[in-house]
Amino acid sequence: MSNIIDGKKIAEEIKNEIKLEVDKLKIKPCLAVVVVGENPASQIYVQNKKLACEKVGIKSVSHELKEDVQEQELIQLINKLNSDKEIHGILVQLPLPAHIDENKIINAINPEKDVDGFHPLNIGKMMLGLKTLLPCTPSGIIEILKRSSIQIEGKHVVMVGRSNIVGKPVAQLLLNKNATITICHSKTKNLKEITRQADILVVALGKAKFIKKDMIKDKVIIIDVGINRLENNKICGDVDFENVKNKASLITPVPGGVGPMTIAMLLKNTLEAYLKFLNF
Ligand code: GUN
Repeated sequence: MSNIIDGKKIAEEIKNEIKLEVDKLKIKPCLAVVVVGENPASQIYVQNKKLACEKVGIKSVSHELKEDVQEQELIQLINKLNSDKEIHGILVQLPLPAHIDENKIINAINPEKDVDGFHPLNIGKMMLGLKTLLPCTPSGIIEILKRSSIQIEGKHVVMVGRSNIVGKPVAQLLLNKNATITICHSKTKNLKEITRQADILVVALGKAKFIKKDMIKDKVIIIDVGINRLENNKICGDVDFENVKNKASLITPVPGGVGPMTIAMLLKNTLEAYLKFLNF
């Protein structure tokens, strides 16, 4: 049997479940997508998010702002979306241009419409283990583990990477599920000694094919969150897939692993924000 986790298939299952729910609704949920400037990767991500909404029957409206937009103008737009009763979720695609303070923008979003789960209030609730909108990639990883029948409780999870979007929330969500967590980062000494202890290794450091087979133990479960573009234009993860795949018991590929889950969880959050808005 294959040891490759099919993230695309799991994401399709989730999207089908969402579609069934949305089909029952008379008024459809609506996601506002805000993108600033012309970052080509952001343009592709936003396009994929809008297409995914359409496929499950969620409406989306997009606001494309010029690269040199003033911070205040962006905040005004967010305020308008916050009070718009026809908008249930707001997503501001990151990164933003350097002259705009990302924290200020995230803070401006109504936490109940924060479908990215980036607002400090939602992060705080997540830390406390309370129900709230969770960041999409981390909750997508939890969903992959759940739907692949992988036990989390009592496992030693090594998280390589400590970003606010992936590393820190992944560690927190897995801690909430009673795993033992070690977080590693660019200043970690003896990285290999630590990664070799992992029962579950989650990698999000942004370096193509960084994890090799001498860095893992036999039968480890590997979740690769990296998205790196190679010189030949192909996409690869932070794990050297071909090098490690026979040593791991399960592994997510790139593409087709964690990536599709992020979008599925965004749709799930949008539906949740809508249902909460209607007091379901
Ligand atoms: N940029 C990279 N990942 C994300 C994400 O999950 N949400 C948003 N808004 N921007 C991103």
